[in-house]
Amino acid sequence: MAAREQWGTRAGFIMAAVGSAIGLGNIWRFPATAFENGGGAFFIPYLFALLTAGIPLLIMEFTMGHKYRSAAPRTYSKLNKNVEWIGWWAVAVAFVISTYYPVIIAWALSYTVFSFNLSWGADTEAFLFNDYLQLAAPGQFGGMTIGVLIPLIIVWAVALGILFKGVQRGIELANRIFIPTLVVIFLIICIRAVTLPGAAQGLQAFFEPDFGALTQGGVWVAAYGQIFFSLSIAFAIMITYSSYLPKKSDITNNAFITGFSNSSFELLAGIGVFSALGFMAQQLNVGVEEVVAGGVGLAFVVFPQIISEFPALSGLFGVLFFLSLALAGLSSLISIAETYIKGLQEKFGWTRGKAVGIGGGAAALCSLIFATRGGLNFLDAADYFINQFGVALLGLVEVVLIAWVLRKLPEFQQHANAISDIRLGGWWKVCLGVITPIVLGYMMIDLFLQNIL
Ligand code: PHE
Ligand code: NA
Repeated sequence: MAAREQWGTRAGFIMAAVGSAIGLGNIWRFPATAFENGGGAFFIPYLFALLTAGIPLLIMEFTMGHKYRSAAPRTYSKLNKNVEWIGWWAVAVAFVISTYYPVIIAWALSYTVFSFNLSWGADTEAFLFNDYLQLAAPGQFGGMTIGVLIPLIIVWAVALGILFKGVQRGIELANRIFIPTLVVIFLIICIRAVTLPGAAQGLQAFFEPDFGALTQGGVWVAAYGQIFFSLSIAFAIMITYSSYLPKKSDITNNAFITGFSNSSFELLAGIGVFSALGFMAQQLNVGVEEVVAGGVGLAFVVFPQIISEFPALSGLFGVLFFLSLALAGLSSLISIAETYIKGLQEKFGWTRGKAVGIGGGAAALCSLIFATRGGLNFLDAADYFINQFGVALLGLVEVVLIAWVLRKLPEFQQHANAISDIRLGGWWKVCLGVITPIVLGYMMIDLFLQNIL
């Protein structure tokens, strides 16, 4: 059997892990989530969630990948023969994400091109739904527009091409180029945004703390939900990526670097987005809260509008913004697809090429559904379902299994401490064994009450 593929450098691994973490969640999910959940006060539950759940879980997943040197299904089966299915469940969630995530990246590519002459015109909403996606009526289901199909094929060709090249010459190399480029582009956008007229009001709206929000359970749930999705934990991804670490790797330190890099980018995105929203509010002569949006609406309706209003170089900033969205998305997509590609390889003994062809090919075909007219409806539903049930439930099962059923935390702690500078103490076990299960359990009950009853 060939030796396991490995990262070439420590920086390469960190770039890849950060590349997975930084994605649409940072750019379009975090700013609106923070705003709706206490503004500046949201940073308290957010930091609490990062330190009690995000980074501890990241350390745990890095340890699992490093120790068992396998993708999620085989890692779980090495833990205990009866729990291999948990790994496949995580892989299945990743597969579903990889059927709609690339569609958004494809839109971002189209909009990069549209930026050149601001094709979206004055009514950006009508442009998105009528001209670009060609939805005659909300909920209508129909064929596919070439405008979405072509960029979607490009996204898959690039992603699968990189994955086909393998860990070092594909994933690592791509992230070493993508991530620094993304950070530079995003910094340029943010510097421009904070110097726009009205930016100060936007930032004030964003940072103004509503401490009363902290008494609401929902705000804490939102913070944990954001951290889980944003750090790509409980999705089998970080286990897979850390399975390519060399024997001597400072796992704990890598987890802190990954966690803080992702949050820094999130904060940067919040500053950039709200500066731009403040500018927009001033142009329209309305309050900032009236223009706040997240998700598809923020990226493809509000941002094109803002970009058109730029005092100069609108087209250029449009290109930079949508390119950064595409780069952030692409590096996450690669990590998502790698989980099932490696899972299939290990299960069936396939070559990388075969796993990329079959696994990636199947995901690419499924993603065509979301690219059809009306697919947008599925996209929203899939995203909601995955975020709420997929992540919270998987995370809960993962920590309860490892902390309480298999009682593996002391062994993992030893494993990580033997190779890391930062020593994991009792706090780490308390976070994973007590705090995280309580919060996720509460989250599940809350979701159940909201959705089922
Ligand atoms: N962490 C990514 C983001 O913030 C999203 C993601 C989720 C990527 C799950 C991979 C897996 O957008
Ligand atoms: Na993220």
